[in-house]
Amino acid sequence: MSRCKVIAGNWKMNLDAAQGVELVEKLKSEFSGCASCCSCDRGPEVVVCPPFTTLPAVVAAAKGSRLKVGAQNIHWAEKGAFTGEISGAMLTTAGATHVIVGHSERRQYFGETDETVNKRLQAGLANGLTVIVCVGEQLLERVDGTTKAVVERQVRAALAGVDAAAMSKVIIAYEPVWAIGTGKVATTVEAQEVHAFIRALLKQIFVGSNVAETTRILYGGSMNPDNAAGLLAQKDIDGGLIGGASLKADQFAALIRAAH
Ligand code: PGA
Repeated sequence: MSRCKVIAGNWKMNLDAAQGVELVEKLKSEFSGCASCCSCDRGPEVVVCPPFTTLPAVVAAAKGSRLKVGAQNIHWAEKGAFTGEISGAMLTTAGATHVIVGHSERRQYFGETDETVNKRLQAGLANGLTVIVCVGEQLLERVDGTTKAVVERQVRAALAGVDAAAMSKVIIAYEPVWAIGTGKVATTVEAQEVHAFIRALLKQIFVGSNVAETTRILYGGSMNPDNAAGLLAQKDIDGGLIGGASLKADQFAALIRAAH
């Protein structure tokens, strides 16, 4: 089964509106030859995830191109007294089609739990967004040999209550925390092993469906133009969630090309 690869840029708290628009313009001219395509035979699905306030400007800049725009988080309530949060309707009104949930920086610095990640994922789906849900072990967990147990707990919790049909709008990103922003990339063997494990887990969770075969599982953590080809060649790695290298047009374009 062929799965359309995904190259997603997580801009984190970087790039103001002018810088985001400039980056999108550079990416658009890079791919002007296939401006409106996002089909598997012509290349990967490409998503950029800017900060909330720059979503409208980035969406406007990406209009008419293959680039899709996502947000970096979503709250589960429709509205209310939730200072600092953002609703699904606010994101879709701004033009977002994708949303990241459960990023390790949210889990580590902002108290996200498996339970809130699940609520945010459900909110994304309820609002018609494609959800990129992040899982991954900390360095100590890898050293202790509990990587698979941690990833299994995170995947099962994040997908609790999600049915097989809804999974067409879910993308999983495996991001070993020790590889994020550190320059220490997982080896292709280490990454493939966990990706295959997640796919086998999907088979257990969604018995009797083709969810395991169709769900895209991205790698994230210091992916760059030098290591992307090796990672993307792995059987169960369907793309990348990219931080640092997504902030530079030439590097992100090289990653998109690597996924072609
Ligand atoms: P990085 O970040 O590519 O800078 O390691 C990846 C991520 O946090 O999604």
